[in-house]
Amino acid sequence: MTNRARKTANPETAARRGASDPRGSGGGPGDPGDPRAFRDALGCFSTGVTVITAMGGDGARIGLTANSFSSVSLNPPLVLWSLAQYSPNLAVFQNASHFAINVLGVDQADVAMQFAKPVEDRFRGIATETGLGGAPLIRDAVARFQCRNEDRYYGGDHVIFLGAVEAYDTQAREPLVFCGGAFGSFAKSV
Ligand SMILES: Cc1cc2nc3c(=O)[nH]c(=O)nc-3n(C[C@H](O)[C@H](O)[C@H](O)COP(=O)(O)O)c2cc1C
Repeated sequence: MTNRARKTANPETAARRGASDPRGSGGGPGDPGDPRAFRDALGCFSTGVTVITAMGGDGARIGLTANSFSSVSLNPPLVLWSLAQYSPNLAVFQNASHFAINVLGVDQADVAMQFAKPVEDRFRGIATETGLGGAPLIRDAVARFQCRNEDRYYGGDHVIFLGAVEAYDTQAREPLVFCGGAFGSFAKSV
């Protein structure tokens, strides 16, 4: 597993375990009131990595890296993801008719990093197509879910977006995995 996007910067926690050890914060009870320790504990749960995109009313493309994506319902087809309330893109996502969820491949950790940084143009060098509602679709993504912006819910410091999937496509490629604050690949053990 590579260590390119380590977010668990707590030095005490890092000292208790190897830098890329995804086994959590060393065991034992945790303090839910300590955001850093809580985030480290959440890092025990491996996820895929997505870039979620939309088009603003001015035609500008927006996108950010997110691992909060989850399936909700098969019939009707619904998915969710959550966005930090302080995001400068909150208003655009709230007003967009659609958003797209681009599931990244194992060779796209650099794309994940680009969409997690405050760079001027996150789409620079990224091949895209235009999806429903103008939401950008990343060309080499493993899966792309085009969602109608169905509903939203307020949960603490995040806003949860519920998407009704209107179209999707997939490619037979290995997905990128995020665990313990690091990117890696999925290894089948059975
Ligand atoms: C692997 C990974 C997963 C992330 N997941 C989320 C997420 O689910 N929701 C979120 O709001 N930010 C998430 N972030 C952080 C955002 O990508 C980052 O804060 C970004 O700068 C937000 O863009 P914005 O400021 O344009 O909203 C994640 C970052 C990484 C590296």
